[in-house]
Parts: sequence; structure tokens; C-alpha cells
Amino acid sequence: MKSIKICIGSACHLKGSYEVIEAFKKLIKENNLEQEIELCASFCIGNCKEAVSVMRWDGVVFSVDKENAKDIFEREFKI
Ligand code: FES
Repeated sequence: MKSIKICIGSACHLKGSYEVIEAFKKLIKENNLEQEIELCASFCIGNCKEAVSVMRWDGVVFSVDKENAKDIFEREFKI
């Protein structure tokens, strides 16, 4: 199982971590990836300027908001 870490540190929280978590949950479900990908909340991952920070299983960090969540998921997180 691969993990995606979504930052819920203060900068990311203020910029909408909750919405990003909800968007990713929905996308994982829509793509039937529940057995392959798990979502984890994470404290600050040191990328606050680019909040909301989302770390892929290989350590690459993306800047996600509710508008671009679907595009980024399709491009970078589908396995
Ligand atoms: S608070 Fe999210 S990267 Fe720092």
C-alpha cells in the first residue's frame, strides 16, 4: 500500500487541508484505489509557502488546492 501525506500544519490548515483531504478521498474512491493508496494526515513537512503540501509515497511534494486537486491527482498520483 502506498501512502499520501496531506499536511495539516497551521499554514496548510489555513489554506484548506480539509478540502484537499476530502477531494483526495473522493478521487481515491472514484478510481477504485482504496486498496492501493492510503491517505495520512501529517504535521508540517517544511513546504509551508506552497501550502497545501501533499507528499507522494516517493517523497515528492506537490502544492495542492481544491481547484487543482483533480488534475494533480490524475497526473501524479494514479497508479
Ligand atoms: S504547514 Fe504544511 S508544509 Fe508547513
